[in-house]
Amino acid sequence: MHILVTGGAGFIGANFVQQVVREHPGTKVTVLDALTYAGDEHSLDPVADAITFVKGDVADADTVDPLVADADAVVHFAAESHNDNSLAEPWPFVRTNIVGTYTLLEAVRRHGTRYHHISTDEVYGDLELDDPAKFTPETPYNPSSPYSATKAGSDMLVRAWVRSFGVAATISNCSNNYGPYQHVEKFIPRQITNLIDGVRPKLYGTGQNVRDWIHVDDHNAAVWQILAQGRIGETYLIGADGEVDNKTVVETLLELMGQPADAYDLVSDRPGHDLRYAIDATRLREELGWEPRYTSFRDGLAATVAWYRANEDWWRPQKDATEAKYASLGR
Ligand code: NAD
Ligand code: TYD
Repeated sequence: MHILVTGGAGFIGANFVQQVVREHPGTKVTVLDALTYAGDEHSLDPVADAITFVKGDVADADTVDPLVADADAVVHFAAESHNDNSLAEPWPFVRTNIVGTYTLLEAVRRHGTRYHHISTDEVYGDLELDDPAKFTPETPYNPSSPYSATKAGSDMLVRAWVRSFGVAATISNCSNNYGPYQHVEKFIPRQITNLIDGVRPKLYGTGQNVRDWIHVDDHNAAVWQILAQGRIGETYLIGADGEVDNKTVVETLLELMGQPADAYDLVSDRPGHDLRYAIDATRLREELGWEPRYTSFRDGLAATVAWYRANEDWWRPQKDATEAKYASLGR
């Protein structure tokens, strides 16, 4: 099988490509990535000899069409992915997430190519802290930010292309990922690299917001299973029952990195900040037999801390510009 992986130089995409090369030999992989500020070709260094890398834009039909024509399946990770950036400048999110997805859908429609669409649980909006409910495939879409609204829009395009044009697509909506190669703008790597630099972690608001954490390798194993065995037209929610509030995440990092539990700062809150996400992954578990391999968040975090300590060359070039951006937002 020849797969085209968009966004393969980003956090989840690069881990996916590495996992496919490691665990599914015989799969031919082509990566299409624009190498925005969030993409780094070095994230593919361990597998560089085993794949083909194309630098290009998913919203450019002339780039996309011949690559899709050549592939048996497309796995679409490429996106503008950071909520804080989407609040400061929404347009790149509309362009990449909506026009980019449209461009790929038209190409897979022309060539009859299998398509898997990577999305987020943030399309469902948020839950109250004390609500026993979790997101299910039946939860109505209710996005809060320009990021989640453009991901919701892209999911709707996929559903329409399945129903109206018979495109052979599946969708997955996953909760918050952590692990190696995540950009230092995101919550966990930002705090780990701050602590390495002797800077106190920064919690938005009161730190009560809850995210449902999953290790990136568990997300990617689920994506592979959906690609191989998922029902066409179906939506699968991916999550590993990993609900933790942000304050607890920071306290765990402080403990793992040898600092007092209260050595963090509260900073101004994100506008429209979603309170809580939680995934019900019953369909994925029961239909496809998927189970997460990372069952201890603390152990997964410890391994992630070790990775950032050992790979300063990878993250250091992004750190100053990222913190300058946060400083301008007062966070
Ligand atoms: P990321 O920001 O780390 O990587 C995005 C990649 O896409 C980068 O390599 C970037 O260069 C590339 N890209 C951006 N615009 C492009 C364009 N126009 N053309 C080609 N390439 C382009 O993001 P991530 O965290 O790896 O997220 C990957 C996907 O997973 C996204 O679709 C995101 O919505 C989804 N997702 C992320 C999470 C999470 O916790 N990070 C959770 C659920 C779903
Ligand atoms: P983030 O990694 O941006 O992911 P998302 O917005 O997609 O959930 O943020 C995760 C949580 O951490 C979110 O509730 C916002 C919060 N947060 C902080 O408290 N401090 C920070 O420095 C950052 C970047 C995020």
